[in-house]
Amino acid sequence: MTRFFLGITGASGHAYAEALLRALVAAGHEVDVSVTEAGAKVMRHELGIDAGARGERLGDALPAWIGAQAARSVQAFASDAIDARPSSGTALHGGAVLCPCSMGTLARVSAGFSSNLVERAADVALKEGRKLVLVPRETPLGAIHLENMLRLARLGAVILPAMPGFYHRPRTVEDLVSHVVGKVLDRLGVEHSVSRRWEGTAPFPEDPGT
Ligand SMILES: Cc1cc2nc3c(=O)[nH]c(=O)nc-3n(C[C@H](O)[C@H](O)[C@H](O)COP(=O)(O)O)c2cc1C
Repeated sequence: MTRFFLGITGASGHAYAEALLRALVAAGHEVDVSVTEAGAKVMRHELGIDAGARGERLGDALPAWIGAQAARSVQAFASDAIDARPSSGTALHGGAVLCPCSMGTLARVSAGFSSNLVERAADVALKEGRKLVLVPRETPLGAIHLENMLRLARLGAVILPAMPGFYHRPRTVEDLVSHVVGKVLDRLGVEHSVSRRWEGTAPFPEDPGT
């Protein structure tokens, strides 16, 4: 069992966060999770979950969201809980993921602002040389966004855009989400079967006409 940190921000794509949280717990891991203020608004809009203005009610919402048993493996922290476990480099974990990651959080992490728990946890991962995976979602990308991503990539962060491929022939939104989540899990070193692995151009079994 390993503990991971999941920071959820105000970018669109909270379905990715949900699928990632479920997959980490299903793989037998624990997750510390925090949602930014903007993230709490987007979460309400996209998932219908009321996490409170600063994510202070996210813990209460977990059992109904991901199931009571899975919720036992997750600890939620308000975004202003800067004294919480993920804010310290002494708290070991297997990696921090910001998913989805807004351009605002990306900019602040690249500049070392640490103005909330999500940014601080990312800053700690960088300074401690631990895995940091950022899942940005924005389009089109401006020069500032690209420069911030390059800066973070050079510092060792993994920039893994919410940019699903189509070569696995997705049929559902879940298929698209799983493709991105599988990539995140790979970078965290978590074994999974949420997405299919490419085995060459041989047709998939369910190909039409085969
Ligand atoms: C419904 C909704 C969707 C948004 N989608 C994105 C997005 O995909 N990417 C992004 O960078 N910002 C997006 N934003 C804007 C961010 O929420 C905003 O910049 C916020 O200040 C980010 O704060 P945070 O980084 O602390 O979470 C969205 C806002 C709303 C309300």
